[in-house]
Amino acid sequence: MSDFEKIKNKLKNKLIESKNSQEVESIKAEIFGKNGLINSEFKKLGSLSLEDRKKVASEINNIKQELTKLFNDKAIALSDSEIDEQIKKERDDVTLPEKDFRIGKIHPVSQVIDEISSIFSEIGFSVEEGPDIETEYYNFTALNTPENHPAKDMHDTFYIEEDMKTLLRTHTSPVQVRTMLKGRPPFKIIAPGRTYRSDSDQTHTPMFHQLEGLHIDKNITMGHLKGCLNYFVKEFFEVEKIKMRFRPSHFPFTEPSAEVDIGYRIENNKIVIGEGDKWLEILGCGMVHPNVLKNSKVDPTKFQGFAFGIGIDRLAMLKYGINDLRSFFECDYRWLNYYGFDPLNVPTNYRGLSK
Ligand code: DAH
Repeated sequence: MSDFEKIKNKLKNKLIESKNSQEVESIKAEIFGKNGLINSEFKKLGSLSLEDRKKVASEINNIKQELTKLFNDKAIALSDSEIDEQIKKERDDVTLPEKDFRIGKIHPVSQVIDEISSIFSEIGFSVEEGPDIETEYYNFTALNTPENHPAKDMHDTFYIEEDMKTLLRTHTSPVQVRTMLKGRPPFKIIAPGRTYRSDSDQTHTPMFHQLEGLHIDKNITMGHLKGCLNYFVKEFFEVEKIKMRFRPSHFPFTEPSAEVDIGYRIENNKIVIGEGDKWLEILGCGMVHPNVLKNSKVDPTKFQGFAFGIGIDRLAMLKYGINDLRSFFECDYRWLNYYGFDPLNVPTNYRGLSK
């Protein structure tokens, strides 16, 4: 084997084994460069006889072709494997430990709805929903609200049509009637949702949230109502004792009716619950009026029960020490970051509601 052939074979092997385009480029220079293998062989031709020159020149050309093909194949193979390599490197590795993906926060209102739902589901209530755009019938008439009731006034209610037949529901109570018309007693439901009234100050916003509760069965009494709300308030505030009062009240859809207030005080511009001499009304309740049962196709001589409507936003204010309701709906990301909740900590009774 000539020296030329030996070098050629050596370079050929080197080329086959090369792993990246940089290595290939340097082999290419050794072979095809100005002072590379091929050129130096061609230079030697001058010293040969005419006959040998032809023969050797054609050999060198063959080798040149052979090597050129090898280079081209190698280049294609390498570019494929380099792309594969790059894809492997750049692929998202889902097994990598988390960095900080908890960028979003759960709004205190959503958190409180989840907490309340968890508390009531524990004692057998299921969740129902109703539409935000209601008819005057479900929002008022079916709930035993007289024609001349002040709540029906345009100042309080957002009517959608001029004939005052459609409106934005002013409370979640119409879900009581819708639920009862859909099924047969007993009923044990809660219904959270958005409600609307033309009102705005530190504790009122035109859109706010309520949660309706309804328990209809045989022999349900006001005692059950008090027991249920006592349990709820203690669970919700996650305390043994809470300052709470039932105040006689009036609603067209309940008889008798009461409102429940929670005691609180303000300290360093924050609400502190359970003590102090201020009261915040958090819910209305009572025994469902026989007329509401009749309008809902439930026989009031056989079934009775209680209902309540909780102001969700106010509960959130009390529990999480937020003293202006309007800030809830200003969509200020800094506010949400401060008062919001970790989306991975879903509230449950057994694991803890807010911790
Ligand atoms: N719907 C009433 C309101 O918005 C709250 C309410 C009071 C709901 C008594 C009830 C209830 O279910 O029984 O002010």
